[in-house]
Amino acid sequence: TPVPPPEPSAVPPQVPPPAPALFTWEFATDPYPAYAWLREHAPVHRTRLPSGVEAWLVTRYADARQALADQRLSKNPVHHAEPGKTGIPGERSAGLMTHLLNIDPPDHTRLRRLVSKAFTPRRVAEFAPRVRELTDRLIDGFAEKGEADLIHDFAFPLPIYAICDLLGVPAEDQDDFRDWAGMMIRHGGGPRGGVARSVKKIRGYLAELIHRKRQDLGDDLISGLIRASDHGDHLTEAEATAMCFVLLFAGFETTINLIGNGTYQLLRHPEQRERLQASLAAGETGLLETGVEELLRFDGPVELATWRYATRDLSIGGQAIPAGDPVLVVLAAADRDPARFAEPDTLDLGRRDNQHLGYGHGIHYCLGAPLARLEGQVALATLLTRLPDLRLAADPAELRWRGGLIMRGLRTLPVEFTPSV
Ligand code: HEM
Repeated sequence: TPVPPPEPSAVPPQVPPPAPALFTWEFATDPYPAYAWLREHAPVHRTRLPSGVEAWLVTRYADARQALADQRLSKNPVHHAEPGKTGIPGERSAGLMTHLLNIDPPDHTRLRRLVSKAFTPRRVAEFAPRVRELTDRLIDGFAEKGEADLIHDFAFPLPIYAICDLLGVPAEDQDDFRDWAGMMIRHGGGPRGGVARSVKKIRGYLAELIHRKRQDLGDDLISGLIRASDHGDHLTEAEATAMCFVLLFAGFETTINLIGNGTYQLLRHPEQRERLQASLAAGETGLLETGVEELLRFDGPVELATWRYATRDLSIGGQAIPAGDPVLVVLAAADRDPARFAEPDTLDLGRRDNQHLGYGHGIHYCLGAPLARLEGQVALATLLTRLPDLRLAADPAELRWRGGLIMRGLRTLPVEFTPSV
């Protein structure tokens, strides 16, 4: 007897998968699936942050780019409906917080013009030999051992020494900075205990250093700032101290994470890493340049742009946002948006059409991008050239990521390689 055709099974209703949990341990390890969900189902999404503050997350590329340049979104925490409660690290450390990332035009325009005069692409280019020397010295420190923690031994010290040199912090004081900076990132920059003490020490030190430089101008960035302010634009002592602070700290954890996340992703994508090694061995720099940009897009150091606040009722991507609400632009989500990037979840070091938002966009676009590019390119090229068989010495699932809100980076990156002298 013929078998009756099976009953057509009921088509399951198209319910979206449940909303992912944000800010958990799994999320810190790999936030990209959760961001894909948000982009698709809730592209402008109000959420409660671990600090208890409510904020909007903007995850689509087009909305993110627009929001970053939208001057109705202020950077100044006084525009938060509940000022003082943003949970911004150091928000209460008065005196250091009136810096570029916390202010709007016209003050922002004046201060940014001043620092741009002192922090020119030429100054950065002149600094390249020093970055190479620092990089080699740090690798010399562990090359014979055959193993290292690339965060502790390499990615962490490189940017702090580099920016100290550029600012003009004397060599004998740089290890103090290394300690204070280590303290700040180990504790997530929260305004408590040891961190508050570190911030106080840095503030006192910077104020005194600026005072000393005024008496004896040199060729460094701080002296350049003082000179620029003497030629017209005014720069108060407090603004100068805050400027040095933002240069130190905006350029520090970010660059650690560029080197850390970048090396980690190269080790996880052997075909891309071999492609880069072959190109470096042939003496080319093109793939290194596009490659560092791609690593910034694919797993960049800044997961969320720094805080913004709606100064009036407005709308982003069709979603109404009331005045006073904080808005967080999720750079890591925007940079994996399939509406902007072909095969966004594929790492392609040669990617051409790559206008990623890793350095932000608009008037707050990263001031240090030329220095970050220089450090990232020198660090990755030197590592892969000097330690050609570099490999991960830990199960990726067991690596710990720092669970901070703004930054994305590894706590440790254990590696092995054939010892070299
Ligand atoms: C701003 C990323 C390295 C100094 C920014 C912004 C991003 C960013 C996304 C904009 C934030 C926003 O709009 O909320 C990065 C990345 C870096 C890096 C990914 C490394 C790979 C550096 C370095 C320095 C620096 C090395 C300085 C020495 C600054 C400053 C601002 C800024 C001063 C504020 C500019 C303004 O508000 O006008 N950076 N940064 N950054 N960055 Fe960087």
